[in-house]
Amino acid sequence: MSDVTADRLQSFGTTIFTEMSALARRTGAIDLGQGFPDVDGPSEVIEVAARALREGPNQYAPARGAGELRQAVAEHQRRFYGIELDPETQVQATVGATEGIAAALLGLGNPGDAVIVFEPYYDCYAAGPAMAGLTRRTVSLRPPDFGLDVEALRAAAMSDPADSDDRRPARFLILNSPHNPTGKIFGRAELEAIAAVCREFDLIAICDEVYEHLAFDAEHVPLATLDGMAERTLTVSSAGKTFALTGWKVGWVTGPAPLVAAVAAAKQYLTFSGHGPLQQGIAHALAMPDAYFDGARDALRGKRDRLCAGLSAAGLDVLRPQGGYFATVDIRSIGEHDGRAFCRDLPERAGVVAVPVVAFYDDEAVGLPLVRFAFCKRDEVIDEAAARLAEMRGGS
Ligand SMILES: Cc1ncc(COP(=O)(O)O)c(C=O)c1O
Repeated sequence: MSDVTADRLQSFGTTIFTEMSALARRTGAIDLGQGFPDVDGPSEVIEVAARALREGPNQYAPARGAGELRQAVAEHQRRFYGIELDPETQVQATVGATEGIAAALLGLGNPGDAVIVFEPYYDCYAAGPAMAGLTRRTVSLRPPDFGLDVEALRAAAMSDPADSDDRRPARFLILNSPHNPTGKIFGRAELEAIAAVCREFDLIAICDEVYEHLAFDAEHVPLATLDGMAERTLTVSSAGKTFALTGWKVGWVTGPAPLVAAVAAAKQYLTFSGHGPLQQGIAHALAMPDAYFDGARDALRGKRDRLCAGLSAAGLDVLRPQGGYFATVDIRSIGEHDGRAFCRDLPERAGVVAVPVVAFYDDEAVGLPLVRFAFCKRDEVIDEAAARLAEMRGGS
């Protein structure tokens, strides 16, 4: 049968993560492609969920999410950021951050509305708007420092810089900090500039903060805490990265009640509700003492340092991440220029899988020489991957 996929999804194909993970399985290479830890999160959290599986609740959770989870999310936002939320009306549980972002776009967007995304972008910031019938306007973050170009952002807010016919202001901005894939943490001055553009153009900000607890070198500041932003910001997060439980797909969206109600309106017809027993586990996880959050961050910082040292030793120019799960390199330092071809050949050449960052850029010329490696892996796995990369260099 010919390709029957809907037109709006034609350009997306299989995600780069699926493609690269399949390559890792086929070749037996070390998978530093997809961002999942190779050690599961806290056993006490798994135990709480296991108990809920054995003893219930095992029937549909409320559409807004288990009360315990909504309460825990509200308490978490107050404890870490001083954000006050009503768990009844300002918290929506979702099936991962991915569903939260999709539900926000579907619940608030009208066909043709424009969404500003910073590139490189997490891939669902392209597919999500497409599924909701929205258009994407990208603003490039360029290596080596991935700094914010405020003028480019203002231009994108006013009208589509790439389409002279589209003179409408944008309606949404998606911000991801700490950022995948670069590990950039948007600093306060950059956030102030973004907030000013949101206020000037009346944008709704959708903030993906799934790496909020993995900020190593700079403070993570939620955009919602800046002046005039609480009423126009939806904050999206999830348990996967913070608690090394990416397979659970427990996420949440918080913000002003009318915006959260619009998210809920879409979410109820996507999945209705999430996984009740797992929501119990994450309600427990969110209330763990500071020592857990500090320990998880410090352990990941150590892995960041380890992988970056290994990549540098292999001759790769590392664009050092400030947070998150990933380190990006510029392969021109080893005489290569095409990250896509490099990643396709890497399992064969070195027995390692990485992801070409160009998959997250509309402007291919900027992203082509960049390659992303995940460091959320056991130390011996990181060391072995680094050794293989160094050997490849030595042997090439
Ligand atoms: C920036 C970003 N947002 C969202 C997600 C997905 O989150 P979830 O698994 O909670 O849907 C990821 C996973 O890699 C991510 O990197």
